[in-house]
Amino acid sequence: MTQRAVYLETFGCQMNELDSQLVQGALTRLGYAFTPDAGKADIVLYNTCSVREQAEQKVWSRLGELKSAKAARPDLVVGVLGCLAERDGVDLLRRMPVVDVLCGPGELDKLPGLLDNAVRTRLALTSDGDGHRSARQVALQGNTSRRSGTLAAAADDLEMLDLSRAISPVDHHGTAYVRITRGCNKFCTYCVVPFTRGAEVHRPPEHIVEECKRLADAGVLEVTLLGQTVNHYRFEDDAAVSVNGVVQPQKGRSYSGGHRRDPFEGERVTTFANLLYRIHEEVPGIQRLRFVTSYPRDFGDDVLEVMRDCPRICRYLHVPVQSGSDRILKAMNRGYTTGEYFEFLDRARAHLDQPEIGRPLMVSSDIIVGFPGETEADFEATAALLERSRFKSCFIFKYSPRPGTVAFDRLPDDVSDADKRRRNNLLLALQSKISDEISREQIGRVFDVFVEGVSRKALQKKGMSHGEIRKAHGAVALTVAGKSVSGEEDEGCSSGACSTGASWVTDADGDSGPVQLSGRTDGDNIVFFDVPGDAAAYVGRVVRVRVTGADRLSLQGVHEETK
Ligand code: 5AD
Ligand code: SF4
Repeated sequence: MTQRAVYLETFGCQMNELDSQLVQGALTRLGYAFTPDAGKADIVLYNTCSVREQAEQKVWSRLGELKSAKAARPDLVVGVLGCLAERDGVDLLRRMPVVDVLCGPGELDKLPGLLDNAVRTRLALTSDGDGHRSARQVALQGNTSRRSGTLAAAADDLEMLDLSRAISPVDHHGTAYVRITRGCNKFCTYCVVPFTRGAEVHRPPEHIVEECKRLADAGVLEVTLLGQTVNHYRFEDDAAVSVNGVVQPQKGRSYSGGHRRDPFEGERVTTFANLLYRIHEEVPGIQRLRFVTSYPRDFGDDVLEVMRDCPRICRYLHVPVQSGSDRILKAMNRGYTTGEYFEFLDRARAHLDQPEIGRPLMVSSDIIVGFPGETEADFEATAALLERSRFKSCFIFKYSPRPGTVAFDRLPDDVSDADKRRRNNLLLALQSKISDEISREQIGRVFDVFVEGVSRKALQKKGMSHGEIRKAHGAVALTVAGKSVSGEEDEGCSSGACSTGASWVTDADGDSGPVQLSGRTDGDNIVFFDVPGDAAAYVGRVVRVRVTGADRLSLQGVHEETK
């Protein structure tokens, strides 16, 4: 087979970024080559998000743009992966005839087979002069997505995709994601994820620890554990099933959260706190251990104690609150009240907030404005919650009705777009003020900073255009502050708060003089600072930086000494 060139673009969340990395690894091992230029690709893949309509719109417009490319090159194969593929199913093929391959997020292990079939079919159709026909290949979970735990355990091929991860020192820039839980069982009424990613399934702790070890051996210093409700992780040894010698992932079960300990914790059960502790102790090469996204209800003191006692676990929590109105939280089926959320915040800060040693606890959150039935009073309550919570940052989203969700079916989308926009802007302005204040509180403090790359400003100084910098981001797959602070967009970089990875350091570092680097504190604050000369030597390392200036998006500092 001649080597096929693949263009892969990722939309949406970190889970999608990890899926794309795994897909890229699997296809590379099979002989496919990846190109950052869609125009040169034989196969164009979009790994999609359907959490909000806006995220979907971007994919629709990309697919629309492909129409002429496909007319000119009938052998081009187009694939839609991820949540939009799962949610829209074969309707998507009807709406977009350019699409040949549909692959849901729960079926990505099947992608190489689908692509192979699609490429062969397209070639055959094209040589028969029948190039307008689709070479359709489809793998979706469909209504089996909430399959039983036994079924999931007996045939969890998806686990093999994570397990077969190729880890080479060139694939990362010192940082990597590790999935611990797939899917979600919470069924917040606005959210499509339980339908697109299916039931909650926890990966065996041995697999996770082993993956972390392999990453550390390949030079990864920072690991971010991923799960839709990451702190809900729980694996029971007694219930573990092996297929062909491989321990299978396990169906999630509910247990009461709050700050009680899991009653079954111990020999038989690995809780999230146990898992964090194991990784910290067994993989000392990982200098930074982080996790997203946390669910407010499932935070036991055990997790906070492990975070407090393990110096390499970051003092950063992303804990979406969604609303400051108890009535709306109930309608969202979030399972907690604002009082319980504040209780959690106070407890987390009591355990973990230590600014005096350069380790303030930073908390970030998500809020939805304009959920059905949200009144001005509800909105005021959310603004009050935002004021009181002192988040480092907060993504504000306008409610977007998602077909298939309970809210879509039962609750009219009755807040006008003008009100949604106004509430969104008011909260953004409030959060900007708070972010700015929190940033300024950091001035004078000394932080350990994980260096992620040369700053965007430094690249611009070296004459790289905005387009080249954006391309560099796509090509090196490193995300720093990958969401815009406006919350209006769910990808892209906000001004300046962005860097790119090591492979660009050499390009950018051709002449002498100070180079501006960008990195992050363990509380996830972005820091810019200058180093003389050889910038490449710093990337992927932890250095000490004294903060001398701040704005709402980032800190500026001076390099003190290297650890
Ligand atoms: N409309 C608006 N925002 C949503 N989110 C999830 N579903 C929707 C929706 N239907 C937001 C939530 C979640 C984040 C990832 O996306 O705030 O935490
Ligand atoms: Fe969606 Fe709620 Fe699950 Fe988060 S916890 S993925 S918002 S259903």
